[in-house]
Amino acid sequence: MYGIVNQAIQGLISENFGKEKWEEVKRVGHVTHDFFLSNESYDDDITYDLVGAASEVLKMPASDVLFAFGEYWVLNTGHKKYGDLMKSGGNSFYDFVKNLPNFHGRIMLIYPKLSPPEFKVEEVSDNELILHYFSSRQGLTDFVRGLVNGLGKLFDTQVEITLTDSSHQEVWHDVFHVKIV
Ligand code: HEM
Repeated sequence: MYGIVNQAIQGLISENFGKEKWEEVKRVGHVTHDFFLSNESYDDDITYDLVGAASEVLKMPASDVLFAFGEYWVLNTGHKKYGDLMKSGGNSFYDFVKNLPNFHGRIMLIYPKLSPPEFKVEEVSDNELILHYFSSRQGLTDFVRGLVNGLGKLFDTQVEITLTDSSHQEVWHDVFHVKIV
């Protein structure tokens, strides 16, 4: 994944737990990079190693690390570094989620080698959606939950996200029921 992803993990850990914990996470994960360049592609294993090591060092389940990372991605990386791009995604939580299928298409203009997630949305009512997430990558379900929860916080909207189905053949496919409460 692009280095911006690993930079975000660095930000999440060093801002919440201190720079020493970040160095410890890198050491435990056998990650030898001093820093990451945002627009350079790195092996996905580095990202998974960082998440695994963060779980060990912070004594948190990996699912909680991924969820926190999802929220951080939306509220810090997205909102603070790519404010205009995030604004282009919609003016409300509902619209943003409805537009998610097109969102990474715009991001590919900045990151042309992106291997983006795919989303499909079914509108159930004016406060409920079914969100399908497809990926060539494994095990990022809780990252997606954190991202959607972060979008709820960004738009000051209380949301409930429930995983209702998941299949892991050639493509990882999760189905979430998303409700504004
Ligand atoms: C301006 C905001 C955003 C930017 C700049 C951005 C950019 C990226 C980048 C660079 C990657 C790494 C993929 C790669 O390097 O091949 C990525 C992955 C991902 N993004 Fe975004 N993204 C943004 C917002 C979002 C939002 C709002 C969501 C969903 C709610 C989302 C969902 C994901 C997921 C799930 C992945 C993991 C890749 C996978 O599942 O295969 N992103 N994004």
